[in-house]
Amino acid sequence: MSASSSLSSPFRGHGPLFDTSIPVLRRCHGYTLSKVVNPLQVISSEKSHFYARRTFEVRSEIFYSHTAEHPSTLADAYPSCRQLPHGLDSLLLPRHVAIIMDGNSRWAERRGLSRAAGHEAGSRSLKKIVQLSCEWGISALTVFAFSMENWERGEVEISILMQLFQKVLIEELDNFVKENIQVRFIGDMQRLPSPLQSLIQKVQQKTSENTGLKLTVATSYSGRHDIIQACQHIATNVQQGKLSPQDITEDCLDEHLGTSWIGDIRNPDLLIRTSGEQRLSNFLLWQLAYTELFFIDAMWPDIDENLYAGALLYYQMRSRRYGRRPGV
Ligand code: FPP
Repeated sequence: MSASSSLSSPFRGHGPLFDTSIPVLRRCHGYTLSKVVNPLQVISSEKSHFYARRTFEVRSEIFYSHTAEHPSTLADAYPSCRQLPHGLDSLLLPRHVAIIMDGNSRWAERRGLSRAAGHEAGSRSLKKIVQLSCEWGISALTVFAFSMENWERGEVEISILMQLFQKVLIEELDNFVKENIQVRFIGDMQRLPSPLQSLIQKVQQKTSENTGLKLTVATSYSGRHDIIQACQHIATNVQQGKLSPQDITEDCLDEHLGTSWIGDIRNPDLLIRTSGEQRLSNFLLWQLAYTELFFIDAMWPDIDENLYAGALLYYQMRSRRYGRRPGV
């Protein structure tokens, strides 16, 4: 088969995400064949993903060979997986997406609705994005549901939000199991109402064996506080002789943050913030060091499949260099 003539157009959604025909050679960009990359390698680690993207940028073309093992593994983990929207490429998708779900109140105000209605609509958006993430094979999704600073809001709004978290968790538990989603909460759980704390423990426990999407819900969360508690743990370990100061590396700090449970993809590839605000608001401060940032004017309740796909497409087009210079 002639590599350059028989392959299809650049960045085309490649049909069923987990097409098992072996090998399917696919054109990613319009130059000459330079490298064959196994998608198992690409997906398996941060370094190889970087390598694939870098090769893509520097050499202009990669041909991906789809193997049998990769599709079956992913199909098991993501029972609802389906074809990606036009333009998205499973090998170039972010593996870990983080979202600041902002604009619920403004969305409600513009419609003459209560704040409660805005948060309720926001929770429907979250369900939609979680479902799409499962269907598109995203590995990890981390959402900012309630910041430590949000405790300064009025009692009524806080109570509405706590009740909403509880309602959504009760409604969604069966779906988490069905969709093979593993759920974890990060943040200061002690401040949450105790029925909510118990429910969170139940949801975490019931989903702990799941192998699909890793869903992290940051609740009563502060990025600075996360770093401080990590430093305190590390300092205690040093004091007790379990660690030496030289052991305090980036990996060591990573492993003491709330996101450590996500494993080697704990640092998000893409951060999406809705509502037009362009700030981090104390979310995942350490973890976002090399994350691609996508700010969108839409209010969180208005986020839909097209907007989410647009954010992923934006990510695909980014050149991630981590401070390095391609080709050198
Ligand atoms: C920001 O909107 C949003 C929040 C403070 C709450 C986000 C919560 C949800 C989307 C519900 C999620 C449910 C679960 C179970 C996690 P805002 O009120 O700050 O809006 P504004 O920027 O317009 O004031």
